[in-house]
Amino acid sequence: MKKVLIGITGASGSLYAKRLIEELVQKDIFVYIVASDNGKKVMEYETSINLESWVYSLKEKYKNIQLEDINNMFSNVASGSYKLDGVIIIPCSMGTLGEISNGISKNLIARAADVALKERRNLIIVPRETPFNTIHLENMLKLSKMGATILPAMPGFYHKPETLEDLVNFVIGKILDYLSIENDLFKKWGN
Ligand SMILES: Cc1cc2nc3c(=O)[nH]c(=O)nc-3n(C[C@H](O)[C@H](O)[C@H](O)COP(=O)(O)O)c2cc1C
Repeated sequence: MKKVLIGITGASGSLYAKRLIEELVQKDIFVYIVASDNGKKVMEYETSINLESWVYSLKEKYKNIQLEDINNMFSNVASGSYKLDGVIIIPCSMGTLGEISNGISKNLIARAADVALKERRNLIIVPRETPFNTIHLENMLKLSKMGATILPAMPGFYHKPETLEDLVNFVIGKILDYLSIENDLFKKWGN
């Protein structure tokens, strides 16, 4: 079974994280979830979802999901010897982006990203801010040069989205493509 970690930070757009988690658990991928304090708060503010209760209710149907404490450095996912197939920070705040690009691993999200980089495994960052300042851009460039995928929450419009879900699915479909997970969440150009 593939294993991925989803890091949810306090940037706007936690709906993307929710949608990605739903897709992954249905596709029999084991999903570890780590959220920052502000990640949980912004999620509740934007979607009225309480992360703990939502994961608890998903767990009744799917066994392949686990919420990790952001301060638990004893977690399996903090170690390079525990092989994850992907670490996805979605949405990624500029604060967490700065920590990761500077090797500051003081919580489990930054540590899991740091491990993915050192082990040369899949790290996908979904940054959310607008406009970006030079620090944000330099941090993204640095991570990109190290092999991370910078995949901004920037849906295309050529698939003619009609709903908010169509827009969200476009970004989630792109992430699944990068993880080599089959999906038909958006109409691929040329198909
Ligand atoms: C409603 C709300 C929306 C926010 N949106 C963003 C955002 O889109 N991008 C960002 O970098 N920070 C955003 N922030 C600020 C971050 O939550 C804040 O910088 C926080 O310290 C990030 O810490 P974290 O990465 O540990 O979650 C937002 C804050 C609030 C309250």
